[in-house]
Amino acid sequence: MATTPPYDVEVGPGVRTRVAELLAATRPRARAAAVVTTAQVRRWPWSDLDTGLDQTVVEVPDGERAKSLAEVERLCEAFAEAGLSRDDVVVGLGGGAVTDLAGFAAAVYLRGVRVVHVPTTLLAMVDASVGGKTGVNLPAGKNLVGAFHQPLGVLADTEVLSTLPDRERRSGLGEVAKCWLLDGRDHEEVVRANDEQMIAVSLALKARLVALDEHELGARALLNYGHTLGHAVERTVLERDPDELRHGEAVAIGIAFAVRLAARLGRVGAATIDEHDRVLTSLGLRRWLPPGLSADGLMDYMARDKKARHDLRFVLAGPEGFELVAGVDADVVRAALAEFAAESSGGEATRG
Ligand SMILES: NC(=O)c1ccc[n+]([C@@H]2O[C@H](COP(=O)([O-])OP(=O)(O)OC[C@H]3O[C@@H](n4cnc5c(N)ncnc54)[C@H](O)[C@@H]3O)[C@@H](O)[C@H]2O)c1
Repeated sequence: MATTPPYDVEVGPGVRTRVAELLAATRPRARAAAVVTTAQVRRWPWSDLDTGLDQTVVEVPDGERAKSLAEVERLCEAFAEAGLSRDDVVVGLGGGAVTDLAGFAAAVYLRGVRVVHVPTTLLAMVDASVGGKTGVNLPAGKNLVGAFHQPLGVLADTEVLSTLPDRERRSGLGEVAKCWLLDGRDHEEVVRANDEQMIAVSLALKARLVALDEHELGARALLNYGHTLGHAVERTVLERDPDELRHGEAVAIGIAFAVRLAARLGRVGAATIDEHDRVLTSLGLRRWLPPGLSADGLMDYMARDKKARHDLRFVLAGPEGFELVAGVDADVVRAALAEFAAESSGGEATRG
């Protein structure tokens, strides 16, 4: 399968001002740029980008509401009205919802125009904007329509994180915890890290795994650490209260469960659980299951996960490092879940 040429990911204060330079270097024939963003992002002074091209700003709804096929159509119409040609570019400026939508519209408009991402949430910086996965939701589920479309470049400007609400920051930290654990880093390193280091370590890990496996046939699946239970918890909770948990917060809970499942399967000992818990706690992440979730409902979601391919699959720590383990015995998962739920109901109050 063809792989895409490498692209630069720049991380640091002020890098958003380098869009024009990046485009001039990588896309010298481009004349026009469509900047895709939201009204909520545009109210911040840092959101004024200069692409150095004939620039049109297209606003899309904020958050998950951006990720629909109707918005893809609206966006492609706007690209056509702006006269965007194959040589021109799309710029995604916002959180992961914006970069997912802008990337997908860029992948399909004129059968593909290039895209640059300027991610503005921690989650989009460490995860959504890199790796080339783009897509939108269907009523039947999240991210069910999409394409692999690698960006021309990614500019992750740490200055814009100063306006990010704590909640959104924690969501990004869930993915940071995942990357740092997969990379074998301990909690002492996590405690000492600043934003730039957190992002850089997470990105380096993702880049390594994506380079090995651009189309998610093998190694890249490790990036789903914590996501089997994480997704199930996220979806269940969303049904009762859309604000109860953000994606990365659910991933943190999924990570805490995955390490306990690995221990139950005899793959790791208590020290690994302890180290995982310390990393999660150091990042201020809750690692307990929210109350009132049905074990049957969670088991059902985990079996239906689109990545599960009809059996229970978990990325698990083990003596050889992390690996994707397929066909995990449902009875073992159920028992681990019951124990985790019991631990969680006592844990929130006493252990933090
Ligand atoms: N493509 C991938 O590989 C990949 C990976 C992980 C997640 N995702 C997707 O990413 C999406 C979630 O992304 P997200 O967590 O960034 O959420 P988001 O895009 O919904 O943004 C969250 C909120 O933060 C606001 N915001 C953005 N930047 C801000 C800033 N600097 N200051 C203040 N407010 C700011 C936005 O207006 C929005 O209200 C999901 O749709 C998920 O499926 C994709």
